[in-house]
Amino acid sequence: MARLEGRVAIVTGAAQGLGAGFAKSLAGEGAAVVIADIDDGGAAIADILAAHPDARLLDVPTDVSDEAACQALVAKTEGHFGGLDILVNNAKGRFRYAPFEELSAQDWDAMFRVTVRGSFLCAKAAAPGMRARSYGKIINLASGTVFKGAPGMLHYVTAKGALVAMSRSMSRELGPDGICVNTVAPGLTLSENILANQEIYGDAVQDAMIQSRALKRAEVPDDLVGAVLFLASPDSDFMTGQCMVVDGGSVNH
Ligand SMILES: NC(=O)c1ccc[n+]([C@@H]2O[C@H](COP(=O)([O-])OP(=O)(O)OC[C@H]3O[C@@H](n4cnc5c(N)ncnc54)[C@H](O)[C@@H]3O)[C@@H](O)[C@H]2O)c1
Repeated sequence: MARLEGRVAIVTGAAQGLGAGFAKSLAGEGAAVVIADIDDGGAAIADILAAHPDARLLDVPTDVSDEAACQALVAKTEGHFGGLDILVNNAKGRFRYAPFEELSAQDWDAMFRVTVRGSFLCAKAAAPGMRARSYGKIINLASGTVFKGAPGMLHYVTAKGALVAMSRSMSRELGPDGICVNTVAPGLTLSENILANQEIYGDAVQDAMIQSRALKRAEVPDDLVGAVLFLASPDSDFMTGQCMVVDGGSVNH
């Protein structure tokens, strides 16, 4: 039997990129999956259905920085599929690469509004139903940069660090009700967005990243699937408040 048969998942920011891949993998393991992106999720749904024609899917366009929208997202999910077991907070805010003195307060707020506030609001909306069912998995997407720092992305790295801290504290509050909260911290991964921004993440940056790893190759989206499925599945039921770094051994955390 598929590992997530009968489970229901929301993946935020899943219209494309890593989130779309997580949604596809969760569906492949039998979970019903809700795509919750500010953009239309139609293409992601078509791609999942091409691979898994029986997949149970729902597209709920959502701005995760809007509390009412997050509440509506969870209500629609529970109404449609009968509950919510897995929340993957994958959406991230608008990113601009710049030395930190050149980042504006607007750049800072835009990053935090989606990445931190959005993850908090989605978890807050999901928690009551998970508590009622005494089961839940919340997975927050952090970044390996939290553990080693990175230039030109202070708003991003700081927001991702906040997610690690938030997950630890949230795990303490939700643990008594059987709800696990963990983070996955990827290294630089060849997602659509990275491939489209080669002026930032070009060959020199990629080569330096590869050399920093114990496993000397580029990281691809499929490298992250195992960790997300593990944290979404009962295999990790006694693991919470943790951060899994999946970066080929660049950071030892
Ligand atoms: N790709 C990498 O190298 C890498 C490395 C470390 C961590 N991560 C993290 O993994 C996640 C996915 O990475 P990616 O490269 O696919 O990112 P991405 O920027 O391509 O995708 C983010 C998604 O979030 C959506 N989004 C933006 N604002 C939103 C909002 N207000 N409400 C709902 N959705 C919104 C976007 O439409 C987009 O589909 C991110 O959290 C990212 O920080 C990625």
